[in-house]
Amino acid sequence: MDKLVIKGGRQLRGEISASGAKNSALPVLAASLLADSPLKVSNLPHLNDVTTMIELLGSMGLDIILNEDMDVLVDSSTIKNLNARYELVKTMRASIVVLGPLLSKFHQAEVALPGGCAIGSRPVNLHIQAMREMGADIVLENGYIKAKTQGRLKGANISFDPVSVGATENVLMAASLAEGITTINNAAKEPEVVDLARCLINMGAKIEGAGTDKIIIEGVESLSGGEFSVMPDRVETATYLTAVTMTGGKIKIKNTMPDSLTSVIHKLQESGAEISTGKDWVLLEMKKERPISISLSTGPYPSFPTDMQAQFVALNSIAKGSASISETVFENRFMHVQEIARMGGKITLKGNTAFIEGIETLIGAPVMATDLRASASLVLAGLVAEGSTSIDRIYHIDRGYERIEEKLKVLGADIERISLT
Ligand code: EPZ
Repeated sequence: MDKLVIKGGRQLRGEISASGAKNSALPVLAASLLADSPLKVSNLPHLNDVTTMIELLGSMGLDIILNEDMDVLVDSSTIKNLNARYELVKTMRASIVVLGPLLSKFHQAEVALPGGCAIGSRPVNLHIQAMREMGADIVLENGYIKAKTQGRLKGANISFDPVSVGATENVLMAASLAEGITTINNAAKEPEVVDLARCLINMGAKIEGAGTDKIIIEGVESLSGGEFSVMPDRVETATYLTAVTMTGGKIKIKNTMPDSLTSVIHKLQESGAEISTGKDWVLLEMKKERPISISLSTGPYPSFPTDMQAQFVALNSIAKGSASISETVFENRFMHVQEIARMGGKITLKGNTAFIEGIETLIGAPVMATDLRASASLVLAGLVAEGSTSIDRIYHIDRGYERIEEKLKVLGADIERISLT
């Protein structure tokens, strides 16, 4: 198992490029199941989760060609089986988004129930309910979702509560080949949902309203493949912007999408960062000694993203003043708090809110990553801590941040990956 060792206290300066968005890449790759001809997906990030999705599609018999730029050509005409096996699903619960395409295109699917994970129970009841409303017969047996339809799925009027990114994506794909009209009420508005809709429209789907809370899909008989380039990763971008707001310095992030992270940019400006943006770049300069503490509450897009909550707990732990951060999306997404507390952070948890009293400096320590964004927050804490911080179990971070130590080294960080195996 690898670990990261960071010597804190350096300002970060330089230019990096955002990678493709993991949370768009995964559903877009699953959309290849719907196409009658190969789908070429580019700007894919080199991440374990993307590799797992490619492995999952490969395990079903799809023909997949990967080039050195990590562009992927997926041909679903060679499909051999309609099963998403537990061995793969348990390592990446987003595998659930193959359910909608498999059912809609092949009228059958057997998908392992994804377990929970560190941040919550992560149920999939909304996914299952929606497929049933579209006419699927679904039984849950031996840890699997066993689903089938007599002929095409039928359009339906579907409402989600709570808002669910994955369930919205599953229905977008299922409805694209269903018979008739599907309306998704209280749909997720995340930019990654909009990106998936753009890809499906590119393949011939008829979709109106992506990015609003009401999406209308008119099913078509067939979809073609074609080419699609995945949007830049807004959470990766926001994480690096937060890092520089904490360490001080200056960063330009290119090939990104500033208007997909306005809520984070506003909070970083409130915290003292000077930010300017262009069509595909963000420039941030932090001249102040310490950031100003920032209270916030996470929520579905366009509210402040839950995927940036842990990073802002790290920022507040060394900010000037006290702040509260409420997590309204997941029930257990404060695993990073104890680890930052071990570095001297003054954080108390009450229900779904963390109360943080900013201090001058954290002290480096050995800490353990528990989930993807928690591990990012520990890296940020290590970058500003006095002395050395070693972060264990960084396979979590490799799921969502492409070459994190290389990008941070470019910015001047003192960070090393130690391979223990
Ligand atoms: C997506 O997860 C993202 N993952 C998550 O990013 C992100 O945190 C989350 O959306 C919220 O923005 C991918 O896109 C691969 P949800 P998803 O369904 O789709 C409840 C990261 O760090 N719910 O929007 O699984 C659920 O428990 C990851 O990159 C049900 O109750 O999230 C949660 O409380 C972490 N029943 C809320 O909805 C369901 O059937 C939102 O979950 C489905 C969800």
